[in-house]
Amino acid sequence: MIFYFSGTGNSLHVAQKLSENDGSQLIDIAEAIHEKSFEYTVKDDEKIGFVFPAYFYGLPTFVAEFVDQLTIKSDSKPFTYSVITCGGSIGNADKMLKKLLEKRNLELDSSFSVLMPSNYTIMYDVPTKEEQKLVLQDAEKEIEKISKLLDAGEKGNFAFHGYLFLFTPILYPIYGIYRKTKKFYATEDCNNCGLCEEMCPSEVIQIENGKPVWIEEKCSHCSGCINRYPTTAIQYGKSTIKRGRYLNPNVKFS
Ligand SMILES: Cc1cc2nc3c(=O)[nH]c(=O)nc-3n(C[C@H](O)[C@H](O)[C@H](O)COP(=O)(O)O)c2cc1C
Repeated sequence: MIFYFSGTGNSLHVAQKLSENDGSQLIDIAEAIHEKSFEYTVKDDEKIGFVFPAYFYGLPTFVAEFVDQLTIKSDSKPFTYSVITCGGSIGNADKMLKKLLEKRNLELDSSFSVLMPSNYTIMYDVPTKEEQKLVLQDAEKEIEKISKLLDAGEKGNFAFHGYLFLFTPILYPIYGIYRKTKKFYATEDCNNCGLCEEMCPSEVIQIENGKPVWIEEKCSHCSGCINRYPTTAIQYGKSTIKRGRYLNPNVKFS
């Protein structure tokens, strides 16, 4: 069973590849939260995976909220792992997950990370197409390695953190301040399709008079809305006007 969260497809692609490898069922964390589905039964020998992006060297709000309420029913303690995607470093995201899992009586047996193109166009420009291609090629190799280690049931910390993890205590609290919706707006390029409302995992977008309106003060800042529309119909203040957009090319978005 793989619980995943993904704004722009990197983590979804990893989750899909791992599921292709061992037949794991995929569960979308955002959907599970909206449906209040927090109780799962796992079969003997079934692994539990958590696949999601690093945000501010820590956990996306959805992941923390979900794990905090998660109950796993099983006859024995299931092998549990995380695969965290990132643009540079996961910081302490896996350690944060480990602590939350312990409270739910689960151990994080293995943790992995996959370097992927960064999607946070709100903060800095996304990599060029050529850079994306190279990073994604390496990511495929990394996913294959992870599949093999998981098949072998290897335990350990295989994630790359870099030294910047030391900054997690400073950076992660900034996530709380940064994830405001106030600066999101739709430009004249918006074709009133309503897809942004449909796909928003935070459910903070509402179509009013044909245009999206952000109705809550904060969202997860997954950046799905701003990256998903190639017409750059969605902007965030002035900072994103000249910046590129990123979506994982291996994932189909409706
Ligand atoms: C709000 C936000 C915060 C991010 N923080 C980090 C970070 O701390 N470290 C990092 O390497 N990448 C960071 N990124 C980049 C993403 O972790 C990375 O692009 C990830 O693969 C996106 O996954 P997804 O496509 O499944 O949403 C951040 C992206 C967003 C949207």
